[in-house]
Amino acid sequence: MMPDAASAKFTVDAGTLVRPSFAVLPPLALYIHIPWCLKKCPYCDFNSHEVHGDAPEAAYVDALLLDLEFALPSIWGRKVVSIFVGGGTPSLFSAAAIDRLMGGVRARVPLLPDAEVTLEANPGTFERQKFADFHAAGVNRLSLGIQSFDPAQLQALGRVHDADEARRAAEAALRIFGNVNFDLMYGLPRQTVQEARADLAAALAFAPPHLSFYHLTLEPNTLFHRYPPPLPDDDTAADIEDAVHATLDGAGYQHYETSAYAKPGRQCAHNANYWRFGDYLGIGAGAHSKLSFADRIVRQLRWKQPKHYVEAVALGRPLQEEVDVTRGDVGFEFMLNALRLTAGVPAALFAERTGYPLSLVANGLDAATRKGLLESDPASLQPTALGRRFLNDLQSLFLTAPGKDRNLTGAVPLVRRPAPGIER
Ligand SMILES: C[S@@+](CC[C@H](N)C(=O)[O-])C[C@H]1O[C@@H](n2cnc3c(N)ncnc32)[C@H](O)[C@@H]1O
Ligand code: SF4
Repeated sequence: MMPDAASAKFTVDAGTLVRPSFAVLPPLALYIHIPWCLKKCPYCDFNSHEVHGDAPEAAYVDALLLDLEFALPSIWGRKVVSIFVGGGTPSLFSAAAIDRLMGGVRARVPLLPDAEVTLEANPGTFERQKFADFHAAGVNRLSLGIQSFDPAQLQALGRVHDADEARRAAEAALRIFGNVNFDLMYGLPRQTVQEARADLAAALAFAPPHLSFYHLTLEPNTLFHRYPPPLPDDDTAADIEDAVHATLDGAGYQHYETSAYAKPGRQCAHNANYWRFGDYLGIGAGAHSKLSFADRIVRQLRWKQPKHYVEAVALGRPLQEEVDVTRGDVGFEFMLNALRLTAGVPAALFAERTGYPLSLVANGLDAATRKGLLESDPASLQPTALGRRFLNDLQSLFLTAPGKDRNLTGAVPLVRRPAPGIER
């Protein structure tokens, strides 16, 4: 039996509402995709392409700004709360190109004065002056793709940088930006718990304000999928995860999302907006968007191949696809994101961000609470410790049966991977 207090929050009838209804639109973030890297990593299934010669940065920045202009009618009058320039490897671009991009964005959309502006960087592209120039261009947070400080692992992962470059980039990033994230991965080839601890200690020596810790996964269409490296077994991976949690907890980091740890006040605002089912406009090759209007939510996908994208934008057709998020999908999509947050979200956020009453997901909430995966507090939607451990099971309780009411093209996989809005 469900406790009364818990069932009370599921009793508003979703009725026959077929369209969402918004009194206020969600906060709007801007994602900008830069699709080139020095070299394709063997584990990576992001929309990233090895650069041959120089990346066509001038033409690409032109295309991004034109793409943004075409998108203006869909975000009319809305302020942008954060920007994330991701990839690929945005730090491959010159500081002048990033400066022109940032200036062009600011000239076209109103940005909140204290907006977080993150840029992803790879230590293999590190130059101290370039980092300083990115900062001068308005980037106020750097996300460094370090992955590991262990020289043997960096080699096994096919990274272009070595441990010394990682250290130099980390030191300069912290000095110049202060607000820095390290992307690290665990469950690496033949990794032991002791090695993972040593790797984490190397990262903590820099005391970064934010750490993203991803479990290395073998993704289809990657070299590692075709030729799998010898990965630690499930028990070792779970032990590494436990050791990581305990160490970071002891070092004063809050484990606020499945793969994210932050010092107090240093959570990533841009990713938090995805997890709280905010809106985002994604421009650039293969970028995804979720945009709400008074009575509909749409997902958009832009052309994936960089060359095709640039040509299509010039013809005024950046979108490969635009679909409505249906009533059958929206509950699952909201829960998929919100349940990644350790503290969950207020129950009232469901209606605010989906445009439907919470009763839309009443069956899933009942089942999740009965199984002990969701806290029974009527005021919040928060996974229990068990729910966090079996997050995939918890999230899948909100999947509705396939049918004409569903259109799940914008769903993200149920795995421990980078934030849902990070484009692949
Ligand atoms: C777009 S990349 C970050 C920036 C830059 N491209 C780099 O790698 O240095 C985003 C992050 O996703 C993570 N990632 C990529 N592929 C992964 C995989 N197969 N399993 C787990 N994490 C992965 C890595 O930690 C990576 O830094
Ligand atoms: S992990 Fe980063 S650097 Fe490597 S191919 Fe993917 S996007 Fe590029």
